Amino acid sequence: MAAVGAYYALDHKHRDQARLFLRVGVVAGLVSSVLVAFPTGDRQAKLVAEYQPIGLAAMEGRFEGGGAAALNMIGQPNVPLRRLDNPIRIPGALSFLAYGQFHSNVRGLDDFPVATWPDNIELLYYAFHVMAGLGTLFILLLTMAAVVDVRGRLDRNRPLLWMLMLAFPFPYIATTAGWMTTELARQPWLIYGVMRTADGTSPSVAAGTVLFTLIGFSGLYLVLGLLFLFLIVREIDRGPMSRG
Ligand code: HEM
Repeated sequence: MAAVGAYYALDHKHRDQARLFLRVGVVAGLVSSVLVAFPTGDRQAKLVAEYQPIGLAAMEGRFEGGGAAALNMIGQPNVPLRRLDNPIRIPGALSFLAYGQFHSNVRGLDDFPVATWPDNIELLYYAFHVMAGLGTLFILLLTMAAVVDVRGRLDRNRPLLWMLMLAFPFPYIATTAGWMTTELARQPWLIYGVMRTADGTSPSVAAGTVLFTLIGFSGLYLVLGLLFLFLIVREIDRGPMSRG
């Protein structure tokens, strides 16, 4: 909604609605993104630390365990060498996020047998960081927008309007990355700690059949996705209509 308001404001059309869309979108977005980080994201992290400590270690690219665990903001997990390359860290922050204390011990991947590690540590690490990174970006961007709006100048602040407009795909990306984080972190288990994903295949369904169904669903979702985009863009282009 904020992005649509920003688009109208940048294009100098539907001025009243643009201001309304910006105000409602920015306030709702700011409240939601703060809630997503705290208490919900924070609570999820504590639950993952309790029930899936291997998943947490992989999300953070943490190979060695120990106390006062740092939160890795940036870096590339190097699984063969079991280390995080080029890290930028906040000391103690992972211990705090996981257990509420800056000195708590957070186990690393090396504390667990390799057979129980998630299969795709790199993708899991990046999915988690994209989600949490975008969450942080939403808070920063929407706080800035809210401050400018309180001063009554948001619909004339073109750099901020451009940022709000171009940020429109990010919530979709963050949601998908969050889902990927959950799904990748529970691997290699289908039922956590009980049944492995590899043992969950059905002997009576051929691989070709599964592939065929997958292609069918992908095609269906592609069509639905394109239709969604087409309809949304058409409605935005038509703009708000005055009621009769
Ligand atoms: C700084 C902010 C954030 C933190 C600390 C955070 C933390 C987490 C954690 C720890 C998980 C659980 C992963 C697991 O169960 O293995 C999770 C899942 C998820 N997150 Fe975030 N998150 C943040 C921001 C966001 C944002 C901005 C979005 C979307 C707009 C988002 C969407 C999701 C979704 C959809 C899931 C999957 C839930 C499920 O399927 O159970 N997160 N998040």
